[in-house]
Amino acid sequence: MTDTDRHLLAGVMGWPVMHSRSPLMHNYWIKELGLTGSYVLLPIAPEKLGDALRALHALSFAGCNLTIPHKQEAMKIVDEVDEVAKLIGAISCVVVRPDGSLFGTNNDWRGFLGSLHQEQPDWRADAGPVTVIGAGGGSRAVCYALLQEGAKEIRLVNRTFERAATIAAELGGPITPLRWEERHDALDGVAMAVNTTSQGMVGEPALDIRLDKLPQTALASDIIYIPLETPFLAAARKRGNRTINGAGMLLHQGRPAWKLWFDIEPVVTPELRERMERSIAGGTQ
Ligand code: ATR
Repeated sequence: MTDTDRHLLAGVMGWPVMHSRSPLMHNYWIKELGLTGSYVLLPIAPEKLGDALRALHALSFAGCNLTIPHKQEAMKIVDEVDEVAKLIGAISCVVVRPDGSLFGTNNDWRGFLGSLHQEQPDWRADAGPVTVIGAGGGSRAVCYALLQEGAKEIRLVNRTFERAATIAAELGGPITPLRWEERHDALDGVAMAVNTTSQGMVGEPALDIRLDKLPQTALASDIIYIPLETPFLAAARKRGNRTINGAGMLLHQGRPAWKLWFDIEPVVTPELRERMERSIAGGTQ
C-alpha cells in the first residue's frame, strides 16, 4: 500500500459516547493534512468492550481512545500496558500493533502539559508550590505530569484524604496529601492551583474553595471543559489570576495518539481550538 492509499481509521469507545468532542479534533486533522480516513464514535456497552477492542485489528483500525467507563477495564483486556498507564491507573489510548496485539497507554498527562506549554509558554513546574484539588484518575495524570516536569512541591488535597495519601505513596516524589479542611489554606503561596474534581462540571455544584490566599500571580487551571469556564476559574479570573480551562488538555492528548497510530504529529492550531471551544459552548458536536 502506498502512502496515498492510506486510509486512517481510529475512534473513541465510550458508553455513552455521543457527547464526545474527539471526532471534531481528529477529523479536523485528517482534513487539514489532506489525508483520507475517519475518526468515529464507538458506542460500546461495558460487556462488549473485550470483543470491540479485539475487533479493531480485523477492521484495520490503527487504535482508539477510551473514555468513561472503559479506562480501567480495558487495562485487563489489552496485551500490554505501559508503566505510565499503570501508575495513572487507566489507559486513554489503545494502539493496534501490526501483529494485531493491543498496546495501552495514557496520554492525559501529556495533554495537560501540552496545553500549559502552549497557552503559558513561561510556565515552569518548579516555579513554586502547586496545589492539586481532587484525587481521582484526572488528578493522577496531573500529578504525574507535574512530577515529570520537575515540580518541587505538590499539595494534594482531597475530600477523601486516603485517596490523596495513596496517590502520594504510589507516585512518590514531593507530594504532600492534605485534608479537605486544609484546602483554603493550601492555596497560600502557590504558583498554580489545579481543580481535578468533578465540582464545577455542568450539572454539579461549584468547587467549594475560598481563593483569598491564592497569590495574584498564580495560575488557576481546571481539567473540566464543560463548561469552558467553571465557577472556580471565573472566580480566579475576576480577582486577576491567569486561567487555563480543560479544553487544551483534551486537544493536546490527541497529538501523542496520532504519533502512536499514524506516526504523524498534528498541531493544535488556534483555529482548531476555536472550533472546539465553539462546539463546547454551543453544545454542538
Ligand atoms: P476522575 O477519574 O474523573 O478524576 P473520580 O475518580 O470520580 O473521577 O474522582 C472525582 C474527584 O472529585 C475525587 O477527587 C472526588 O473526591 P473523593 O475522592 O472524596 O470522592 C472529587 N469529588 C467528587 N464530588 C465531590 C464533592 N462533592 N466535593 C469534593 N470533592 C468531590
